[in-house]
Amino acid sequence: MYQLFFRLVFRRLDPERAHHLAFGWIRGAARVPVLRVFAAAVLAPRHRELRTEALGMRMHGPFGLAAGFDKNATGIDGMTMLGFDHVEIGTVTGEPQPGNPPRRLFRLVPDRALINRMGFNNDGSALVAARLAARRPVFRSVVGVNIGKTKAVPESGAVADYVKSTERLARHADYLVVNVSSPNTPGLRDLQATEHLRPLLTAVREAADRTTGPRRVPLLVKIAPDLADEDIDAVADLAVELGLDGIIATNTTIARDGLGLTSPAALTAETGGLSGAPLKERSLAVLRRLYARVGDRLTLIGVGGIENAEDAWQRILAGATLVQGYSAFVYQGPFWARAVHKGLAARLRTSPYATLADAVGAGVRPRDQHRRTTA
Ligand code: FNR
Repeated sequence: MYQLFFRLVFRRLDPERAHHLAFGWIRGAARVPVLRVFAAAVLAPRHRELRTEALGMRMHGPFGLAAGFDKNATGIDGMTMLGFDHVEIGTVTGEPQPGNPPRRLFRLVPDRALINRMGFNNDGSALVAARLAARRPVFRSVVGVNIGKTKAVPESGAVADYVKSTERLARHADYLVVNVSSPNTPGLRDLQATEHLRPLLTAVREAADRTTGPRRVPLLVKIAPDLADEDIDAVADLAVELGLDGIIATNTTIARDGLGLTSPAALTAETGGLSGAPLKERSLAVLRRLYARVGDRLTLIGVGGIENAEDAWQRILAGATLVQGYSAFVYQGPFWARAVHKGLAARLRTSPYATLADAVGAGVRPRDQHRRTTA
């Protein structure tokens, strides 16, 4: 049904226009009590066995919406209504900015992929903070806040820009993400080098602690799939050393590997970050490497090319406590999160693991090290 709608309507529209249209409908539906109750009952049924704990919070399940879809925190209830267990808003920058000129989002339909060079178009930290403060949630959900650097701010001012966003947003976040991995802000990914990352993460941690009172907001860093293996290890070691809570792996890639050559060359040549199916293998490899390095000392969130329950399950077995997706939602529509949950619950039931937490990393741990919470 959605596939037909996608082919007949969305595919004929500019991808960014289609996004705004679909997101508008979702937000609209979530504002109508009867509609949202009905939609949530159909699209977001809870599976008891998927209940899990992550970053010190109890969650209905492990599957959430990746950053970039709801950049300005305008549709958290709508996306929760569609079955996402957590919603990561942003990237939000210190100051508002329009992002790159359109066209800046491209569909590679045969490859089930997207290329984007949005460039952090967003309302800025002050407005998004005010929106989050005024929010009266209709569904209980976990809200992550993803922050990045304002484009006009020079590299020397990067730390201050992230600190500004942190001071405004941390108190409204269930967890906070320092995004240093989007390919569309010049110089941003250089912040992944430990000599830049250490002062940045230290300053953000301090700013968060200053502004959230006695509550300690979990802090994570989101990394690129294009990092060399030794740089992944370095970020992992630094995250452990600084007492970070987790790592999100991965953002979009600047590589063009894994494309089936079926998308027109003019499209694959567009600059920007590639997401969706072609990213699957590399994101999984990065996650495996991180888990081998840090084990249970950090909470790992797996994202990149997750299309179905099996992909999500493989990330969990590889060490992810939570998983996220974005691109496959564009292609699969409103029943996607429901299908992922249903498949995950079925896999867990037929697996040797008593709880979801037991399954985390089980694919790469020797059998005798499997954690059993119930035996
Ligand atoms: C993104 N992504 C993203 N990530 C981020 O940290 N901040 C952002 O603002 C955005 N913006 C954004 C826009 C668009 C159009 C896309 C497709 C993606 C990256 C996203 O969160 C995710 O890491 C990747 O897309 C990989 O996951 P999928 O899409 O393969 O499931």
